[in-house]
Amino acid sequence: MKEFKDKVGFITGGASGLGFGLAKVFTEAGSKIVIADIRQDHIDEAMEYFKGTDASVHAIKLDITDRKAFARAADEVEEVFGCPPELLFNNAGVNTFGPVEATTYDDWDWVLGVNLYGVINGITTFLPRMIKAGKGGLLYITSSGGGLMGSPGCVAYSAAKAAVINMAESYRMGLQHYGIQVAVCCPGGIKTNIGESAKIRPDHLKNSGYIEDEKVINALNNVYEKVGIDPYELATIVKKAVENDKFYILPPGMGRELVEMRNKELLDSIVDAPPMTPEEMEKMAEGWSYMKDVGGIKEDLDWVKPAPPRPMGPPNIKDKK
Ligand SMILES: NC(=O)c1ccc[n+]([C@@H]2O[C@H](COP(=O)([O-])OP(=O)(O)OC[C@H]3O[C@@H](n4cnc5c(N)ncnc54)[C@H](O)[C@@H]3O)[C@@H](O)[C@H]2O)c1
Repeated sequence: MKEFKDKVGFITGGASGLGFGLAKVFTEAGSKIVIADIRQDHIDEAMEYFKGTDASVHAIKLDITDRKAFARAADEVEEVFGCPPELLFNNAGVNTFGPVEATTYDDWDWVLGVNLYGVINGITTFLPRMIKAGKGGLLYITSSGGGLMGSPGCVAYSAAKAAVINMAESYRMGLQHYGIQVAVCCPGGIKTNIGESAKIRPDHLKNSGYIEDEKVINALNNVYEKVGIDPYELATIVKKAVENDKFYILPPGMGRELVEMRNKELLDSIVDAPPMTPEEMEKMAEGWSYMKDVGGIKEDLDWVKPAPPRPMGPPNIKDKK
């Protein structure tokens, strides 16, 4: 996607950090942006910034774990801008740190609720509307370097971030024929307010195994401030990557070595498996062809285009050779 002018964009967590950076970069490119955020103070600050510009920005207070509120937000976008978003940025996230064995159900439910289900809710709310609008678009997800390798200090966060990378891969393959481009960004540190996540942990999920007091929040703010990339700079990298049709966006600070280390260990762990022969590949492809009666679509899903036939499994290795 090269042109962003007049396109409507919806950014979760759009009032702070990377989301706010994306809002700045894409309004500067002429997009009309909705920033959706759970924190009213972040929304107020962000809108104050845009007051001094000619950007077209609308703010919605939204908790992305609330599906009904998400549907209302989607209606509001159409009322305000006349169409569903073409650019969907699933960006909002929260984090908390502590040893794996101290992780409670509340830690899991909160962190997965926002970082995984929040993305699921965004996509499931908007995708049918985007497809019906028939203009194609962009489905973007902010994951994390943590999604590329587990972290013993934030197991739930890493798990959620790994899951959304995998989800992005599935959507990328499944949405090609709608002209919907998919991209997933895996940053290392960013200079943002994510260290303050504990402040918005909902009351019913407060039973954490970790200490999340002011001292910890200050320490985290300090870390992100010291090691993080500037959110506007990162948002600019994201825009450029989207223009160049990149799927994985691994910005500076992510650590090439980490990716190499993980992938090398995976490759080195393939047990007793020489490269597949053409016959073996043929057989594998044949296996998927037996799936042709699986994955049918109910008629009331009026946005789903039945053609062309779509694979239900991973890409055919034969095609990659
Ligand atoms: N900061 C980093 O070092 C870092 C590194 C890798 C990935 N990320 C990812 O970047 C994304 C953006 O985070 P950030 O670093 O800009 O943090 P941030 O805290 O500055 O911005 C995130 C925004 O999301 C909002 N938010 C949180 N929960 C929400 C909910 N339930 N509903 C709606 N909005 C909600 C917050 O209020 C906040 O305004 C996140 O997905 C995060 O996991 C951050």
